[in-house]
Amino acid sequence: MLYKRMPIEIEAPEGFGYENIDCNLSESSFTDQKLGDLGININDLVLLYGDHKGKPELRELIAQDGHFTADEVLLTSGAATALFIVATSFLEKNDHIVVAKTNYATNIETPRAIGAEISYLNLRFEDGFNLDLKALDKLITKRTKLVSLTYPHNPTGVLINEAKLKAIIELMERKGTYLLLDETYRDMSFGNKLPVAASLSDSVISISSMSKSYGLPGIRIGWIVSKNKQFMETFLAAKEQICIANSVVDEEIAFQYLQKKEQFFAPVRDTILKNFSIIKDFMAHQNSLEWVEPQGGCVCFPRIKPEIDVNMDKFHDILLNQYKTYIGRGHWFEEDARYMRIGYSWDTSEKLLKGLNNILKAIEEAKHS
Ligand SMILES: Cc1ncc(COP(=O)(O)O)c(C=O)c1O
Repeated sequence: MLYKRMPIEIEAPEGFGYENIDCNLSESSFTDQKLGDLGININDLVLLYGDHKGKPELRELIAQDGHFTADEVLLTSGAATALFIVATSFLEKNDHIVVAKTNYATNIETPRAIGAEISYLNLRFEDGFNLDLKALDKLITKRTKLVSLTYPHNPTGVLINEAKLKAIIELMERKGTYLLLDETYRDMSFGNKLPVAASLSDSVISISSMSKSYGLPGIRIGWIVSKNKQFMETFLAAKEQICIANSVVDEEIAFQYLQKKEQFFAPVRDTILKNFSIIKDFMAHQNSLEWVEPQGGCVCFPRIKPEIDVNMDKFHDILLNQYKTYIGRGHWFEEDARYMRIGYSWDTSEKLLKGLNNILKAIEEAKHS
């Protein structure tokens, strides 16, 4: 493995220091929750090694969401570990993978660290970040071990519909390859949620997490779902070699949260939709940025209009050091510096609006005169 730190992690706000940030628009999750606000009691918990697949009752709850059995769910330490387990189970050096780009950085960096041969399925601003099925078809060869997609998408917030998901899965089955679908933002879809893709075929592996929709990244609970028994056995072997089992503390918190999911998540959904209407209104009333309107998640990926002549280093310097506003820079996603990921549901609505206006001010001040 060729491990290399990714810009998104090197420049993560938790390393920069939350105390140095006024408006934090760099986060990709809902506001981090306080344990004391969740009414969770873990006093009777025995601190043993848990079930290696993960707490059975928690896997049962997750399974119910997608018509699975608990045995078709493997808990992992966040979706990040789930992605690592799947990538390292499928790929060795020089194996071929197709990965959507732009993407959440790990989805690209882990295959790269393995030394896999990567073909990128480019999602372009000009096409509304739309997935071109014909382009995907062309990239898949007899050597393709895995196709890696993310929906709702990070950093753009775009989504596909169920017909397209089914067409993608049909393509996988026809070509004899497998789909890894990162569904970490699934609960945050604005309209109807897609089915858990792994429920549609045993050629699909779905991944998700407690981190984003519920604002619980600190408990490091994610999962892999697949109906493919052989894959699940390999993923369990990988997990046992990495960490044996999850933290039982994390599992218990996730379990008690999901038991009351609707109670907790209904206000989260309302806040996300409120913040989305704030940023949508902002985008409609300014002339410096353009975007593809998201359909889910809590992030979007606008860019400074190409015709505006801006010194990008100066823009980022002013935005961060003068206005103390933190955004996800384009290079976190291997994109041009004119792009920025804006997370619109981590900081307060007031800070969101203030941060958005700071972006406009920084653009004005960084224009070439
Ligand atoms: C699309 C996507 N997948 C996976 C992850 C990893 O999440 P976690 O490991 O916190 O569950 C992230 C985090 O940003 C993400 O955006």
